[in-house]
Amino acid sequence: MKRLLFLLALAASFAVQAQHTMTVDMAGPTVRIEPTMYGIFFEDINFGADGGLYAELVKNRSFEFPQALVGWIPFGDVTVRDADPCFDRNPHYVRIVNDGRRSRAGLDNEGFRGIGLEKGRKYRFSAYVRTPEATPMKLSVELVNGNAENLLRQEVEVAGSAWQKVTAVLESPFTDARSRLRVVLATPGAVEMDHISLFPVDTWKGRENGLRRDLAQALFDLNPGVFRFPGGCIIEGSDLATRYDWKKSVGPVENRPLNENRWNYTFAHKAAPDYFQSYGMGFYELFLLSEDIGAEPLPVVNCGLACQFESREVVPLEELDAYVQDALDLIEFANGDPSTAWGRVRAEMGHPEPFGLKMIAVGNEQWGEVYPERLERFVKAIRTKYPAIRIVGSAGPGPAGEQFDYLWPEMKRLGVDLVDEHYYMPPEWFFANAARYDGYDRQGPKVFAGEYASHDHASGKANNYLSALSEAAFMTGLERNADVVPLATYAPLLAHVDAWQWNPDLIWFDNLRMMRTPNYYVQQLYGMNPGNDVLPLRMDGKPVAGQEQLYATAALDAATGEVILKIVNASAVPQSVRIGFEGLKKRRIVSGTCTYLQSDDLQAVNTLDREPIAPRIRPVAVGDREVSLTLDPNFFGVYRLQVR
Ligand code: AHR
Repeated sequence: MKRLLFLLALAASFAVQAQHTMTVDMAGPTVRIEPTMYGIFFEDINFGADGGLYAELVKNRSFEFPQALVGWIPFGDVTVRDADPCFDRNPHYVRIVNDGRRSRAGLDNEGFRGIGLEKGRKYRFSAYVRTPEATPMKLSVELVNGNAENLLRQEVEVAGSAWQKVTAVLESPFTDARSRLRVVLATPGAVEMDHISLFPVDTWKGRENGLRRDLAQALFDLNPGVFRFPGGCIIEGSDLATRYDWKKSVGPVENRPLNENRWNYTFAHKAAPDYFQSYGMGFYELFLLSEDIGAEPLPVVNCGLACQFESREVVPLEELDAYVQDALDLIEFANGDPSTAWGRVRAEMGHPEPFGLKMIAVGNEQWGEVYPERLERFVKAIRTKYPAIRIVGSAGPGPAGEQFDYLWPEMKRLGVDLVDEHYYMPPEWFFANAARYDGYDRQGPKVFAGEYASHDHASGKANNYLSALSEAAFMTGLERNADVVPLATYAPLLAHVDAWQWNPDLIWFDNLRMMRTPNYYVQQLYGMNPGNDVLPLRMDGKPVAGQEQLYATAALDAATGEVILKIVNASAVPQSVRIGFEGLKKRRIVSGTCTYLQSDDLQAVNTLDREPIAPRIRPVAVGDREVSLTLDPNFFGVYRLQVR
């Protein structure tokens, strides 16, 4: 045994000694990296919006689910009504009657797999109320923990028969991820209530109707260059009636109509019958988030097709104008002067300045002739009215194959600016495709790598280190080809641990905590270190795209004068690499740091309690014109080398 261990150690030490030489040409031709390069894609899947990023804690606050009391546990005399409603597009409300004999009548809300409350944190309760009674009525608003103890009660007065908004700020006396909100009619008589809402006061940027602070911060921390939203299949809908209609997602939040969520019944073994879209985080909030995180917005609109995985529903060409108009109106909503119809809607919502929209995607993962036939109408109309807007078309659901081969020439014929490619493929594919774009046509439309993730089926598609490392390796090829691929976004972004449909996902959360996956940290390392220009980097005269299981790219950060090297060693043994810098003239390398991910366990994952896979940083010894690196096994490092 001892002898075997000795031989293994000896073999490993020989492996270290095999030194590779790479060269970075500081004076060679460069490729510009657009600031949009590394971005994020948000879709309401896995309870990503309602129950996730959107900070509303009450499910079915407007009583508009098909069964109006889903999410609510009524007690005493509670009925659902719609006569003389408060909101015409959300007409249902509840009537609570306390007949004086029962001490209690009211209802609990269960939230999204519970309500996450934290001790000492403040929550804003609000509701629209009225009472037919002559005397003021009292509501008791209560926070109930997972043991059914109503540990906080606060009274709210209701007076008058006209609908009015009441609010109260409650400070939670406990921490519990599975709490409930309870509303009790404490005085005899009747009260009617609608749009019953509970938000943390300290949302992201403190906005009412805002976003969950920790999740929005995690997005900000990726330093994303582009923000694609709101889907994904969700823009297509299971049928056209349930497609994402952006116009329904703007204006007063209380009057945005409910929509079914496309992901509710998609996977039979993970059905989520209570998955609907409140549109509370609608297009206005998504544009605002884009602005907050410093990313270029990239909205996606329906092209006149329902999700082709689920339906064959197609808008006839003679009826397509309304859909084309929706796209034009969206550009006006984002960029129009407040004197325009849709610019005014935006201004009235609180943002008179334009959002500065530069790109729009028409369709998601479409295929077949039905797609280019429809896309053509959009391209003509957008080019005529908004010639500066870049248009994104689709190459279908996969990275190759019949549809892909059909759609690419069609996209060129239609003259779209970017083609959205999607790949959910195994780690081996990502490692093997680091040179995918080296031979791409430099003259045609650019590529938007709009949805990708490494799916390690053997692990149940875990967000494990293997998947992250393979993405890091693949992304060196995106960066090397930044002239072809100016935008790239991992997918999906968010997943609730108790309510997800699709994995892997970049960020997981429960009602109180969140977890950044190894894949998140890969995206972050790229997003925080994009550089401005790709520098030629070669090993044996070739780009480093998998030789000896090494992957590498080099970029220049013009602001700091640093060279940024991104290197993956996907081998199970350490590797030595000497990197020489040519064309430095009188400059030299003066210092360096390395931020890196490494694990000997390719199956390692992060959890809500622990993130064993997270970036670490160390200094790098540098020579004047070279660096000699020992790359640990399963290693992804970002080196920032100061050149003066
Ligand atoms: O990211 C999840 C889904 O994958 C997207 O909605 C769709 O575009 C793709 O099929």
